[in-house]
Amino acid sequence: MSNTTNKSTPNPVLFLFFGFLAVGLLSGVYSSFFLQQSPQTAYLNAAGTYYEKGVSTAITFESWPERSPANIAAGEKHYQTYCAACHAANLTGGIGPNLVDNEWLHFAKPTEENIAIQIIKGVGPGQAKVAQGAVMPPKGGSPLSNTEIQKIVYFITSKNAAVIKTGN
Ligand code: HEC
Repeated sequence: MSNTTNKSTPNPVLFLFFGFLAVGLLSGVYSSFFLQQSPQTAYLNAAGTYYEKGVSTAITFESWPERSPANIAAGEKHYQTYCAACHAANLTGGIGPNLVDNEWLHFAKPTEENIAIQIIKGVGPGQAKVAQGAVMPPKGGSPLSNTEIQKIVYFITSKNAAVIKTGN
């Protein structure tokens, strides 16, 4: 009879068990102390402040930038930095709506002008039509100029044939 059989738990299993436990505990501690706000929560909290400042409702553009590959690429970069968290990296939507279908919630005609104005104004508390309780801070909470927002619109147009080109 061997006396090495019937060892109740092999050491590797214990090692893994305590290993996972330790990693779990550490990451919990890390996230509660260091990652107090997700970027989305930060945007949502910031939105209140933006709306208190107020955004002009009469937004008009004196000009639009050139519809060049470089400007579309700049728009894509801005989009990925400031919009993708809510609208997804491939623009198919998340908290915010899909931007590559042809369903529009906040304006009747999907002109580049209307889309740019909507982005600049954002979607205030209580204004969301589908994403109940969600808000979009003006300019997505970004520090971008209107011209940079127009480049984001060019990027959206480059991915959505339904957008009516009213820029350059
Ligand atoms: C904090 C999340 C959030 C961020 C960041 C954000 N959006 Fe939104 N967006 C929303 C929500 C929420 C709506 C409205 C959804 C609804 O009405 O149900 C919206 C609506 C829109 C609309 C109107 C769509 C329509 O169907 O009428 C456009 C266009 C848009 N966003 C573009 C952008 C762009 C471009 C950026 C980056 C500059 C951006 N958003 C950043 C959450 C966000």
